[in-house]
Amino acid sequence: MAAESPRRDTARWQELDRLHHIHPFTDFAALAGKKVRVITRGKGVYVWDSEGRKLLDGMAGLWAVNVGYGRKELADAAQRQMMELAYYNSFFQTTTVPTAELAAKLAAITPAGLDLAMFCNSGSEANDSMVKLVRYFWNRQGQPKRKTIITRRYGYHGVTLASASMSGLTPMHPQWDLPLPGFVHIQAPYWYGEGGDMSPEEFGIHAAKALELKIQELGPETVAAFVAEPVQGAGGLIVPPSTYWPEIQRICETYGVLLVADEVICGFGRTGRWFGSDTYGIKPDLMILAKGLSSAYIPIAAVMVGERVGEVITGAHEELVHGFTYSGHPTACAVALENIAIIEREQLVERAGGEVGDYFQARLRELADHPLIGEVRGVGLIAGMEIVADKAKRRHFAKPGEVGLICRNHCFENGLIMRAVRDIMVLAPPLIIARAEIDEIVEKARHCLDLTLADVQRLGLL
Ligand SMILES: Cc1ncc(COP(=O)(O)O)c(C=O)c1O
Repeated sequence: MAAESPRRDTARWQELDRLHHIHPFTDFAALAGKKVRVITRGKGVYVWDSEGRKLLDGMAGLWAVNVGYGRKELADAAQRQMMELAYYNSFFQTTTVPTAELAAKLAAITPAGLDLAMFCNSGSEANDSMVKLVRYFWNRQGQPKRKTIITRRYGYHGVTLASASMSGLTPMHPQWDLPLPGFVHIQAPYWYGEGGDMSPEEFGIHAAKALELKIQELGPETVAAFVAEPVQGAGGLIVPPSTYWPEIQRICETYGVLLVADEVICGFGRTGRWFGSDTYGIKPDLMILAKGLSSAYIPIAAVMVGERVGEVITGAHEELVHGFTYSGHPTACAVALENIAIIEREQLVERAGGEVGDYFQARLRELADHPLIGEVRGVGLIAGMEIVADKAKRRHFAKPGEVGLICRNHCFENGLIMRAVRDIMVLAPPLIIARAEIDEIVEKARHCLDLTLADVQRLGLL
């Protein structure tokens, strides 16, 4: 029997998907009226859809495929481990070889003091587990009133009840009766959108002081932790002014509040150092890892625990009543270990923090001369471009997200995956990206911005 044509297969997969698949963050009815894109293959920085169209994946999936697609080493690591011991659990005084090895490796590469790893399967689970550890810590410290977790507007920390409560993207709350009690949001260091007449440095201090004001308002004896991404990703690629993190660090130390760095996007080289905490000199008590930990080849995440909380856990002499069937899954750990070995072997952190990251940032900044682009910002191999109606006044278009979506759709049609967050176009390509591929991104992005401008003019949106 002759093989089905790709087009026939595409139609079948689209129909199966339409009938049976509830997508994340998707309007089910709206998607049903469209034809879903079926991605079938990936190699390097490219993916292909079921119609054979090649797309440069400027988002590394969801800011995750740091070592690029199609890495045989990772498939081999999974196969070796599956044949040796596909699964065993870490409950009941047991571990597996890759689990212990990965915990030690993470202790070695994360900032000093973060020497304990608690494994989970997603960034959301890791954040949820972290909230439990924070509660446990303060309860054991005899300060059970310290329960409030402070996070930021535009923050994204995942979708479980606790991590969605921490997320500061307001559409994430009403459908689920969130945030839960005890989760409070303060402003983000979003200078371009909210800095007004202040310089970025002034605004960095101002935004950090919002934490101090909130702690004082709530009473320091009730505040458990401040949780933040070093660079805010899903909320619009918010790069903090240089003054922000030192002031946050000072405030957390002054009030004894635990500082948690959510490194799910920033970790594993994205900002040009191993962790965003290295880039910004943050000394977190706890750190959240996922995505780049395995370059998304397999689900795995971790909470890294520093001395302050670690001593309480290891000295408790009672069972820590928490853990997942797949905590420290040996196959996932083996893949993560090989992924880290690739990052080291190919010096991907050094590339992102050096020549390649510099080239990426410099070339993208050329787009700041485009009539639609108000600011290009970024660090290492992550960047955002702010689409505005009026560059001089830093004024956005009336309907947030409308023009960003137009631009994103042009990008897809022209072979580039670039995400739109409201009207901020976001890029976080695999760290293996070559100069020629960066050139391709910039060329395609400019062309798509031109097409977007033509649409904006035609629709009278200006
Ligand atoms: C900073 C941050 N934290 C947590 C998460 C949630 O991770 P997951 O989707 O693996 O649950 C994400 C996902 O994008 C993230 O960007």
